[in-house]
Amino acid sequence: MCGIIGIVALSSALKESLGMVLYRCLKNLEYRGYDSVGYAVIDNSGKLIVRKSKGKIDDVYTKLGFNKASGSIGIGHTRWATHGRPSDENAHPHTDCYGLIAVVHNGIIENFRELREWLESRGHVFKSETDTEVVPHLIEEFKKLGMDSYTAFKKAISVLRGTFAIIAIDIDAPDRIFFAKNTSPLVIGFGDKAMFIASDIPAFLDFTNRVLVLYDGEVGYITANQVFIESVEQSALDNTPPRTKPVSYDHRVRVIAWSREEASKGGYPHYMLKEIYEQPQALAQTIAGLREGVDEAIELLRKAEKVVFVAAGSSYHAAFIGRLAMINLGGVWSDAIVSSEARWYVSGLSDRDVVIAVSQSGETIDTLLAVREAKKVGARVIAISNVVDSAIPRESDVAIYTRAGPEISVAATKTFTTQIATLLYLSVRLGLVKRAIGEEEANTIIQDLTRIPKAVERVLERYGNAVKSLASKVFEKISSCYYLGRGLGLGVAMEGALKMKEIAYVHAEAYPAGESKHGPIALVEKGFPVIFVSLGEIDRELIESNIEEMKSRDAITIAITPKGFEFKSADHVIRVPRVHPYVLPIAAIVPLQLLAYYVAVNRGYDPDKPRNLAKTVTVV
Ligand code: M6R
Repeated sequence: MCGIIGIVALSSALKESLGMVLYRCLKNLEYRGYDSVGYAVIDNSGKLIVRKSKGKIDDVYTKLGFNKASGSIGIGHTRWATHGRPSDENAHPHTDCYGLIAVVHNGIIENFRELREWLESRGHVFKSETDTEVVPHLIEEFKKLGMDSYTAFKKAISVLRGTFAIIAIDIDAPDRIFFAKNTSPLVIGFGDKAMFIASDIPAFLDFTNRVLVLYDGEVGYITANQVFIESVEQSALDNTPPRTKPVSYDHRVRVIAWSREEASKGGYPHYMLKEIYEQPQALAQTIAGLREGVDEAIELLRKAEKVVFVAAGSSYHAAFIGRLAMINLGGVWSDAIVSSEARWYVSGLSDRDVVIAVSQSGETIDTLLAVREAKKVGARVIAISNVVDSAIPRESDVAIYTRAGPEISVAATKTFTTQIATLLYLSVRLGLVKRAIGEEEANTIIQDLTRIPKAVERVLERYGNAVKSLASKVFEKISSCYYLGRGLGLGVAMEGALKMKEIAYVHAEAYPAGESKHGPIALVEKGFPVIFVSLGEIDRELIESNIEEMKSRDAITIAITPKGFEFKSADHVIRVPRVHPYVLPIAAIVPLQLLAYYVAVNRGYDPDKPRNLAKTVTVV
């Protein structure tokens, strides 16, 4: 979940401002972790300079002297701590005993204890508690055993077990950055007289959009104008170089459609607010682009006995809603499982079933592992992702991409609504094939889907300020609240509560509204906010009763509901445009995204960088 960046520059402008270029790229990666930051450059005299510190990049910018660093080669890191607390010592880059080799890493090296013992027994002295530090010492050790820098790097990689994206520089090979990838993401960017390598495309989008996504098991190096890749086999802790095979990659280089503008704040105070307001466009692009992969997916789904969604966080909430659409519109029994729990269910799957893996990043490790488990038992896999060529779509039988553009804020917003649109479209198409729904209903849903970008625009126009004022009136001091819903509304409630928890640090729990009487209501007292999401005729009266129950305990009640539903009893009613109930979740979540955003901002928190979280979770 950390962010890593490496740059090899040929142009003198880039060389002179190398520290600032690293800073810009690291700023773009900060959403992957911000416990500490650091960089290493080989300066013009050939010396390795390493600067690192605990804290966020802007807080330690001067201390680390980003504006003073120059050279033709540099690597940087922004950390989400796994092994070792956030501290200066544990910050990356890590170095060998003599400070000649520097390494940054994202992931977890599972066998680091055993490697560290081996290295310590050979006289290496460690400075940090991290798993990463074994890597520079391994390179140093294999060089001592007679290997050149690159062979020593490959050998070091071949003895690691775990997940990693690693890049390294060595003063004995001052024109290149070594890299290795296993599970954690790593992408090369082809710039103008410069080459970039990073955890994610937005890191270097200011410089290039020509990219090459690396695959698991690949190692190699970049120079300012060349890429060399090979695959490497695991090997033992001895002095024999590992077995490798060259990899040709020209056909994998592609130009991606994301623009610099999309990956910047564009005048908004935070990425999250910008991304909330980008939803009309993200939805319109996604819906218009629903072609590639759809026919193949329908073909798999048509034959499926069961359809099982696997996903995490917001993607799970989209899957929860998608599951209801699959059952009631697609005509196939379906379930949605949190991906980290999937291993307990996989024995219930077979080659007659289809798994739909939903992941905006396409790299969430729990979802990736669930996909692998499902494939082992023969299930076919459809991936829904926002990142082209990421690991989950790559390992799936069929990939369908949402076209939300880059989502930088840790809190998912536009990727969530575009996921729902995609899953709904698939369910309707399947329902037509299976004759589970009539043409008329299918047409209404598809028409409403094409109207939804405008409907979301109206919600944003109408409620931008109203929700802001609700956030300060009702949520100023509260530390706990409930989000209640039924059916589709429950999926929206779950997502609303997650937004509130993750960025505003308010204890927000989502419950099936009916279930609230079986325990949760005990907490309700005067002034306790309860947010209801009621999306259909089917649950309206039931939710009205639930509102009454909460009001008689002096709760403050807020209802999200389509226009035309009264809800006189609620203290505050937010009315979203009336569209087909299965399309409604897309509009209904928007005020709840805004609510969480304004509560976070009112409390002085940065919604783009919630504590302890990272955008892409690549550790189990
Ligand atoms: O990239 P993914 O969609 O697989 O990510 C899944 C979750 O980590 C993600 O949705 C997370 O819960 C977000 N912080 C939600 O806002």
